[in-house]
Amino acid sequence: MVPLREFLALTDEQRDIQRLAREFAATELAPHAATWDRDAHFERALVPRLGELGFLGMLVPEDYDGMALTAVSYLLVLEEIAAADASTAVMLSVHNSLPSQMLLTQGTEAQRQRFLRPMARGELLGAFALSEPDAGSDASAVRTQATRDGDSYVLNGTKSWVTQGNSAGVILAMARTDTPDARRGGKGISAFIVTPDLPGFSVGKKEDKMGLRASPTVQLVFDNMRVPDDHLLGEPGQGLVYALQSLEHGRLGISAQAVGIGRAALAHAVQYAAERQQFGKAIREFEAIQFKLADMATRVTQARAVLYVAAAAKDRGESITQLSSIAKLTASEMAMWVTTQAIQVFGGYGYVKDYPVERLFRDAKVTEIYEGTSEIQRLVIARELYAD
Ligand code: CAA
Repeated sequence: MVPLREFLALTDEQRDIQRLAREFAATELAPHAATWDRDAHFERALVPRLGELGFLGMLVPEDYDGMALTAVSYLLVLEEIAAADASTAVMLSVHNSLPSQMLLTQGTEAQRQRFLRPMARGELLGAFALSEPDAGSDASAVRTQATRDGDSYVLNGTKSWVTQGNSAGVILAMARTDTPDARRGGKGISAFIVTPDLPGFSVGKKEDKMGLRASPTVQLVFDNMRVPDDHLLGEPGQGLVYALQSLEHGRLGISAQAVGIGRAALAHAVQYAAERQQFGKAIREFEAIQFKLADMATRVTQARAVLYVAAAAKDRGESITQLSSIAKLTASEMAMWVTTQAIQVFGGYGYVKDYPVERLFRDAKVTEIYEGTSEIQRLVIARELYAD
């Protein structure tokens, strides 16, 4: 599966966690990935299993039953998982990067004990609800309204594109706490810890997607949903800032997912080019195929290099606003291009479901869309060029 030479100088600990993830992915994910994709089946039994391995608390301190991994180690795990099953990779990326990070950085001690600890143990899956039908790239256009009433908030609205929103035990949801007659833009948005047992919570439409079919994506409907005020996260009016902060981490997770997809497509193409005979010899003997494989390997390596440069900067405590967008833009566009080339190497066999490259191509597309489209990544990168 790994046709590329490892260029990272990994520590023994990083090599161990990478091996653990690779073995788990090869034995417990890869054999099922095509069936789960075909049936749009979310394998719920994976949640406790991933918890057992520590993969649902990778960035959480040991005090809250997490693994306290560095960003580099965390992304090595995601890359291995994505190379086998990109749907499981997004489950891990969303859970570890978004709700877990928001609770860790902004939660009170009581909120961390109640929600973060069971999340890290794999007892509760986390989700993140920012987007709405009319608030996608323009995240500050959130309309879901939270109105204070006694010692609780009453939430009304619809959140969309919520990864695993129908399976999560904890959802970090952004809603407006400003009033309709005094709108404050992004500053009027707060973050709430939502649990599916709250009265007024329901799961709406489940999307029938092109790719990542084993990862459910749903709408969530809040109909006079009463949320106790101790479920408010951090300061009122700071919800959008917390969400964008955690998305900075999330974008590294999606980069690792895209690198895993690209790496898998390259590995399948290399293997197929050695086996497929045309004109009396293996097609890898033709320069047209060699150059294609060389370009694919070059782009996967470039994206991987940028990803781990960004991760190392994160581990040094540096700002990665621009780097995480550069990593996501590079990796997602690489994954789309490399999976397209892989299909070309397979020819007609790449266009049908008998081989995995068709699924990898479909899975790659969303990495250019979610957690900020490629256009939004370019906007963030450009803004940082002329930031003070
Ligand atoms: N870290 C910390 N704070 C940040 C930040 C960051 N990375 N980015 C922005 N902020 C702060 C800003 O400083 C600002 O705070 P102040 O008002 O105090 O100065 C506040 O957040 C608002 O930021 P902007 O003024 O830059 O906001 P904007 O309205 O101009 O929008 C944007 C900027 C880049 C377009 C942003 O809205 C954005 O990233 N949009 C894309 C949203 C997105 O990625 N959605 C994906 C949803 S999740 C998903 O895909 C589903 C899933 O489950 C996987």
